[in-house]
Amino acid sequence: MTVTVVTGSASGIGAAVCKQLAKAGHRVIGIDRQNADIVADLSTAAGRKAAVEAALAACDGVLDGLVCCAGLGPTAPSSSVIVGVNYFGMTELVEGLEDALARGSKPAVVLIGSVASVHPGMDKLPMVSAMLAGDEAGALAQADAMAMPQAAYAGSKYAVTVFARRKAVPLGARGIRINVVAPGAVETPLLDASRADPRYGEAIRNFVAPIGRNSAPDEIANVVSFLQSEQASFVHGTVVFVDGGMDGMSRSDRF
Ligand code: NAI
Repeated sequence: MTVTVVTGSASGIGAAVCKQLAKAGHRVIGIDRQNADIVADLSTAAGRKAAVEAALAACDGVLDGLVCCAGLGPTAPSSSVIVGVNYFGMTELVEGLEDALARGSKPAVVLIGSVASVHPGMDKLPMVSAMLAGDEAGALAQADAMAMPQAAYAGSKYAVTVFARRKAVPLGARGIRINVVAPGAVETPLLDASRADPRYGEAIRNFVAPIGRNSAPDEIANVVSFLQSEQASFVHGTVVFVDGGMDGMSRSDRF
């Protein structure tokens, strides 16, 4: 039986992914802050290490899939915790579980990015350079110094996308596929919190996808399920926007 680890399994997109993968016959090991097979705090190095160790024990060191959904939006308590969960909470899980994935059958990884990752200027932020250099203390300090949670969010999503694309060569050599799914607005508690926030609510209400509505979590999970399946056996190192046309609208001439 295919064994897949899913982070952020307790809510929103992660919960929808768990449901679909279980229905498709995967054994799913969920990781979250609560209501999960493995309860762990992915915002800290210690929490991530504990999550990796528990996942390795649960799968006996052989893993076929990893889907990293756990993430925080711009309404999180601090910019640094956004970077901790959204970047290091994904990349350290990939690195910690890479050997187990290499032992798996047709292994595949999906990281949940965001259409926010294409926001101009993210590649110039020192916070992003620190993330990509693996300098967690530096990245967290830069994030809090900027004090712009929306930049911490977009920057963390840009960085995690770059991480995945850079991993295409080393993971491909080990037979592990990796891809990013970049959702637009999805009806989850994360979006509810942003919409209710006076800083972001109006922009979120005004930024409507060309398709004229927001997504349901299952519409994102559908694409994750495809990427984790053998039907996607040649899809590797790429970014799939599942955004109702937002990226096409905002960057029609760049792809
Ligand atoms: P959600 O809030 O419903 O689910 C996020 C899950 O991550 C929660 O279960 C939460 O407990 C978990 N989590 C947060 N911090 C954690 C920590 N320190 N340790 C362990 N688990 C933690 O949100 P949603 O929307 O399902 O988000 C899933 C992913 O999708 C996130 O990475 C988010 O950035 C991304 N995304 C969401 C969009 C949206 O409009 N909802 C748009 C684009 C991307």
